[in-house]
Amino acid sequence: MPILPTIIERLRGAADLLEARSISAASARSVSDNPVLDEYVVGTPCAQNAVDALPGWNLALPPQAGVAAGHGAFYNDPRILWALKQFGSIEGRKILELGPLEASHTWLLEQHGPSEIHAIEANKLSYLRCLVVKELVELKTAKFYLGDFNKWLENVEQRYDLVVASGVLYHMDDPIGLLERIAKRTDAFYLWTHYMSDEAMPDGDPRPTRRARAPLQAVVLRRVAEQVVLRRHSRSASLGRKERHRRCDQGAGLRRRAAGP
Ligand SMILES: C[S@@+](CC[C@H](N)C(=O)[O-])C[C@H]1O[C@@H](n2cnc3c(N)ncnc32)[C@H](O)[C@@H]1O
Repeated sequence: MPILPTIIERLRGAADLLEARSISAASARSVSDNPVLDEYVVGTPCAQNAVDALPGWNLALPPQAGVAAGHGAFYNDPRILWALKQFGSIEGRKILELGPLEASHTWLLEQHGPSEIHAIEANKLSYLRCLVVKELVELKTAKFYLGDFNKWLENVEQRYDLVVASGVLYHMDDPIGLLERIAKRTDAFYLWTHYMSDEAMPDGDPRPTRRARAPLQAVVLRRVAEQVVLRRHSRSASLGRKERHRRCDQGAGLRRRAAGP
């Protein structure tokens, strides 16, 4: 038997073996890490299947998508309409959206004809839900990126005409840092956030939140920005991050405020 074909045959065998092993290892990993994604859908393909493939929908899709997802009709959110009214036309403008969640605001923004929307989402499931929405409502301009928007603002050398930062500031460990990073990338941003009113809830106020039954804890951050003293209060550190956010959303003593450019 000639030597070269034998060697090639053995190498092929080894490559086949390696491939088989790595495929089964990768598939085992994907099954254990993402059981929800490694299933087949039987039946007629339809838009609802795509929604049902992912759990945890919070928001409704625009009616033309013809699907049932979550409930909030944020695709017609008056806060964003207000922001657009303050800013003026975004036609042909570059938009950065922080934390799109399920792309409702993204869809609304896209209806106003921007040339670019970059939407940065850190949560894997939310990101996948955004991609499902993108497909179902045929978003053409918006591009979704999975990762931390702080890193994007720090590292991506681009300026935007408008940054939309709705419902994200109060998630930050360093909210002032986020404002500073946003300011480096734009001259106009829309901000909507929960905040704690010192008048409504002065230091030492023992009032528990409606659900947490735990008072606000010590001040963890105090910074002066543009001569304004800002303090970040935290809730019970024993709660998980997700639960803290949920309770933060529902907390008594928190006010809601939108601020435009
Ligand atoms: C309360 S939701 C707000 C959703 C939407 N913008 C709104 O106003 O209704 C916060 C969103 O920001 C995302 N998020 C929080 N921190 C983030 C970060 N550092 N980078 C990217 N996304 C983040 C969350 O996963 C979530 O989708």
